[in-house]
Amino acid sequence: MVLDEDITVEGGHLVFDGVDVVDLARRVATPFFLFSSRRLRRNVSAMVEAFTSRHPDTEIFFASKACSNLWFLDQVRRAGINIEVNSGGELWKAQRVGFAPWQIVFNGVAKTRDEIGSAVQAGVRALVVDSVYELERIAEVAGALGVSAAVDLRVDVNVPTFTHPGLVTAHGGKAGIDLDDALAAFSFAFAHEALDPRGLHLHVGSQITGIEPYVAAVGKGLDLIEAVAAGGLRLDHLNAGGGFAIPYREATVCDPDDYFCAPLAINDYAVAVCGVIARRRPDLKLMLEPGRSIAGTTALLVTTIENTKVKGLRDAAGRRVGDECWLTVDAGSNTLLEHTNYGWYFRSVAASRADEPADAPFRLAGPLCDGGDVFAGDDDTPYRRFPAATAPGDVVVFFDVGAYSLEMMNPYNARPRAAAYAVQDGRVVPIRLADTLDDMVAADVVSGRPVLPAAEPPGED
Ligand code: LLP
Repeated sequence: MVLDEDITVEGGHLVFDGVDVVDLARRVATPFFLFSSRRLRRNVSAMVEAFTSRHPDTEIFFASKACSNLWFLDQVRRAGINIEVNSGGELWKAQRVGFAPWQIVFNGVAKTRDEIGSAVQAGVRALVVDSVYELERIAEVAGALGVSAAVDLRVDVNVPTFTHPGLVTAHGGKAGIDLDDALAAFSFAFAHEALDPRGLHLHVGSQITGIEPYVAAVGKGLDLIEAVAAGGLRLDHLNAGGGFAIPYREATVCDPDDYFCAPLAINDYAVAVCGVIARRRPDLKLMLEPGRSIAGTTALLVTTIENTKVKGLRDAAGRRVGDECWLTVDAGSNTLLEHTNYGWYFRSVAASRADEPADAPFRLAGPLCDGGDVFAGDDDTPYRRFPAATAPGDVVVFFDVGAYSLEMMNPYNARPRAAAYAVQDGRVVPIRLADTLDDMVAADVVSGRPVLPAAEPPGED
């Protein structure tokens, strides 16, 4: 059975990029992530091809917040694209895996003076400016260092988007300069000797399932670039950010209100974005910052079922009206934070029973001491469908966990953050070790030296 080009079923087991995940789960501790370098390379080439075939002057900067594991970043660099960072820490990681300064754009909505200083000194391609206040701060820091900072202005072009409310950025969200203030901000930047304005940035949000927000945002961005040019000032690029959606939910027809269902492929976004640019400014460089659409499909999370029970389903009056069978796996929101943080839906299968019909309903929970650590069900029900015999010892796999998962793991309940492996050149290699017990307490201080002098005891008047 073939589920997609790298996911097949052999002997009842799920096989990912040639690796029997059940066999692997019997040899190494679960939960673990399993990445595929082949899928990553394929996602990068699809993105590059989709945009550069339509607008040759396109540069792609992988949004490293989606997955900043060093192996992953190294693979991204080798695949030939650039990187977007969001903090001094991400800048450090990018430099550590060998990205050159011109390959790095630096975003952020609360950059410290130190972060600005290191980005300016490193000579990054552009610091993306979030506010007029920050523009002045960058000018001050760059001026004190005696250099001129390359900047893009991030503008909230105020277009409606449809996605999870936590992923909206360009319509009353927290990021960017208000469109009304943008022209004045550009004039200020062009007039300041410590600032070197290069472009306009307008990321509109994440998991954007339609093209309309891009068409509207790029259109408004080009209007602004035109207005800046009317004042005799030239910008050399438009950075349209990332946000391209991936299909977390498999469906033949998508309900437009369901942001887990993504009807578009990367080519559709490219046609839309490049189309607007080709009509109005074919000479302009296009920059992009995709994260999820590069990393999302590159990994699985492999877990083991540890517990099961049947509990009564009760009506409002407390009468038992049915039964619910619960399964508890060894990974919850400590390993896949977005499943509770955003109520995110990650498709799953019983990988050790992959050739049995998945037709029995189960409530699926994580291991944490937290009543919210229960996975969303399939098709808007509270239930996941697995084969009826699914039980402790079976392996459950979650799909499309390559973006925003490793990044957001936490050691709640003193559960070690999980290991990650990758399939590379037909071999499984570790790319992240699970926390040891010592790792989990390495930063705790039981008996430390005071950081402030002891307060004077209150005096008597
Ligand atoms: N550029 C900027 C300025 C961004 O803020 C983001 C994402 C991206 C690019 C990449 O967007 P993508 O292509 O991945 O959609 N923790 C959340 C995701 C937060 C996204 C934040 N910004 C989640 O797990 O869904």
